[in-house]
Amino acid sequence: MTAQLIDGNALSRQLRTEVSERVTALKARGITPGLAVILVGDNPASQVYVRNKVKACEDTGMHSVLERYEANMSETALLARVEALNNDPTIHGILVQLPLPAHIDAHKVIEAISPAKDVDGFHVASAGALMVGQPGFWPCTPYGCMKMLESIGYDLKGKHAVVIGRSNIVGKPMALMLLQQDATVTVCHSRTADLKAQTLQADVIVAAVGKRNVLTADMVKPGAVVLDVGMNRNDEGKLCGDVDFDGVKEVAGWITPVPGGVGPMTITMLMVNTLESAERSAG
Ligand code: GUN
Repeated sequence: MTAQLIDGNALSRQLRTEVSERVTALKARGITPGLAVILVGDNPASQVYVRNKVKACEDTGMHSVLERYEANMSETALLARVEALNNDPTIHGILVQLPLPAHIDAHKVIEAISPAKDVDGFHVASAGALMVGQPGFWPCTPYGCMKMLESIGYDLKGKHAVVIGRSNIVGKPMALMLLQQDATVTVCHSRTADLKAQTLQADVIVAAVGKRNVLTADMVKPGAVVLDVGMNRNDEGKLCGDVDFDGVKEVAGWITPVPGGVGPMTITMLMVNTLESAERSAG
């Protein structure tokens, strides 16, 4: 293996320790950061995610509320819960776990969250703030990727970054964050004519498609930094990313593993956003 590993578990531990210290300082001022997590229905993956988010709150000393509702909850009732949490002074972050049941308009629900409590960074106001470089909440997964680059002291100025995937949650905000750090950014997607021609030019590659082996060794410039946002299962049912790790690690300069890479960073950045929301409300 030539690539150095960027260890998301180790970096998460370090950042969560810093969060805990800031939580303690805020508590001394009489404010406990609070996160409300809403889960509608019983999607098994969502249940694991929300459990991990609540546990991360406990570990960092934050207050958390998990609200679970039946899959047949009405959109009106859900909007009413969001509104109540918007007005609850003990809650600094509101997260509605996606996906929502098909009869509920997820966009409408996200837009009902107060931008001041939008710690997922999914509200149009948060997306707009990122776009124009104003303060707001950054979506946790691309934010975690930026922290991983920072952790290795990587200077993006003038570098070519290729993002594979154009989702609202990862690909598009990732591109904007890289651009803000003066990288030259290319966004590739399922209709990109020659993906390999693009990735071979890249100093940094972020793979965020949700499909195994999207990036293989022959597509990577020697020494490139490779961040793998994918969460897939291989034929043996083992968790794997979008990157052919065994092949790419022989070519890349830095690489994130799956599991233990970007995944833990996503929840860590949710803690950071919730803490920052509480700090902003404290003035
Ligand atoms: N579903 C999968 N990932 C996420 C996330 O980061 N936030 C929310 N709200 N739902 C998700």
